[in-house]
Amino acid sequence: MTNRLGVNPMRYIAGIETSCDETSFAILECSESSLADSNLPAEFRVLTHAVHSQTDLHVPFGGVVPEIAARDHLAKLPGMVQDGFRAASLRANDLSAIAVTTGPGLIGAVMVGSLFAQGMSESSGVPLLAINHVDAHLAPATLCETFHPVRDIGVWKSTRMSRFPRLTLTVSGGHCLLGYESSLGARRILGTTLDDACGEAFDKVAKLLGLGYPGGPAVERCAAAGDPNRFDFGLPLKQGNSAVRLRATNPFAFSFSGLKTAVLRTAEELRPSPEAPLPQQDINDICAAFQQSALAHLCDRLAAAEKQVSDHLKAIAAPCGLQEIVIAGGVAANRAFRAKAAAALRTTLFFAPQSLCNDNATMIAMQALIRSSDGLTTKPFSRYPFQLEPFF
Ligand code: KG4
Ligand code: ZN
Repeated sequence: MTNRLGVNPMRYIAGIETSCDETSFAILECSESSLADSNLPAEFRVLTHAVHSQTDLHVPFGGVVPEIAARDHLAKLPGMVQDGFRAASLRANDLSAIAVTTGPGLIGAVMVGSLFAQGMSESSGVPLLAINHVDAHLAPATLCETFHPVRDIGVWKSTRMSRFPRLTLTVSGGHCLLGYESSLGARRILGTTLDDACGEAFDKVAKLLGLGYPGGPAVERCAAAGDPNRFDFGLPLKQGNSAVRLRATNPFAFSFSGLKTAVLRTAEELRPSPEAPLPQQDINDICAAFQQSALAHLCDRLAAAEKQVSDHLKAIAAPCGLQEIVIAGGVAANRAFRAKAAAALRTTLFFAPQSLCNDNATMIAMQALIRSSDGLTTKPFSRYPFQLEPFF
């Protein structure tokens, strides 16, 4: 089995992730036998999966502070890499490839991982692979259905290969991206957010309700004890003239900033004075109503894409219809979202395993396996050069 770099075989792949507030290192081992219809190994196992979250450092600021993030990656990454090699009984020059997130992400944070990986590559002679973080979120759901961060270490797993054509949604703190892939790597962006990312909206709502950082899990917890129907925050991009105009431009665009403002107004109205804390039941009800609207928006776009893509494939007499929908990124960890999406969609749905939804290096190594390289550049970049092309 050779990969696009001509490395034969692709046996051990290291992954490095430092694009935001998780420092992470992983090593993947690939079996020598490959899947019948692809270049991918029939089995793989994760030898090292180390994730250090910086949450505690950023909590006092209510969000990620880029400089603190970069400095902490610098402090943690070398030791983590050393421990990871020791646990896997490997050395850098045993590797077939070193995969690292080169973007999108906080530039200082990305630079720490990129330069560290570049140094490892230079000193060991092992090829360096630049990985796109947004795409990498989808890799675990593409290759496997489950992964337990403790029980599955060192355990061989059969490679599940996604079936195409498929729809993909990466929904995280920095991104909200709906894509269509006719085959692996042949992807068109259907829609992205016009303002905030979905996870960012969860974080901002949590912050204005005093729930701390990161907001997603806190909002989900409060929402579970709240009444989603007490407040009606509406469905984004459904109302108003500008919304109609935007919808007409792209039916797959997302928007979360209006929702966040609606939450802010409601919280202000409920507070007897600007500094007064809200009663817990009000917080719970606001979270439940916000989460209901945000998730309904995601599901609305997914369902619209599912219908239009299916109709289109039928109209062109494609050999097969839409095969699956893959959802990943931090927000994919939300259990209410998983249930709502399963109810809203007819196509087979795959979510990234719960433990691989948030940022981690295992997904970076997995993405390297899928795509030997992303753009053949090791230059850190801040944004994916998305070209929104009309699909229909
Ligand atoms: O994928 P990720 O770790 O980082 C980025 O690439 O952005 O996603 C982090 C985001 C945060 O905004 C966090 O609040 C959100 O994912 N998140 C959630 C949940 N868990 C994490 N949002 C909603 N519900 C959750 N359970
Ligand atoms: Zn991410």
